Amino acid sequence: MAADTTTGEDLRQAVRRRYGAVAASTTAPPAAAGLARTLGYSDQDLAAVPEGANLGLGCGNPVALASLRPGDVVLDLGSGAGFDALLAARAVGKTGRVIGVDMTEEMVAKARANAVKAGLAHGERPRRRPRGRASGRLSYRRRSRWCRWRCP
Ligand SMILES: C[S@@+](CC[C@H](N)C(=O)[O-])C[C@H]1O[C@@H](n2cnc3c(N)ncnc32)[C@H](O)[C@@H]1O
Repeated sequence: MAADTTTGEDLRQAVRRRYGAVAASTTAPPAAAGLARTLGYSDQDLAAVPEGANLGLGCGNPVALASLRPGDVVLDLGSGAGFDALLAARAVGKTGRVIGVDMTEEMVAKARANAVKAGLAHGERPRRRPRGRASGRLSYRRRSRWCRWRCP
């Protein structure tokens, strides 16, 4: 029997290719909404995010379990097209912060675009610090919901 020479990097690339292809598709899979409902997402949840944020990839409903409160900071690891991160952003409100991390660049791009569509893409740091403030970042956070996505 031949030895398996698959490396960790091979697996990472395969995962990226697979999710990258899903992200690149222009339409959400028709079964995505039904699948989300079986995981406990409400019609209100589904209506609260732009089309294409829910790609039918979820295997749970973390926002429903997390008891998020206004002002909380959320780190969504493997945030996909932003479905859960966008719902979390609504839950933590203007004083909270959501950071999405995904290793697939196409997913990060899609999540960022969805955050723009949802009116939540205020995550870029202002170029100049407001006068009299020690940190532009902090003052910016007070004024806006914060959704950022990172690709490691
Ligand atoms: C199940 S999907 C997205 C789930 C998302 N919460 C949703 O409901 O749409 C998983 C995502 O995790 C990402 N991913 C998988 N392994 C990862 C890793 N080790 N580091 C960062 N992202 C990862 C994939 O690129 C994919 O976009």
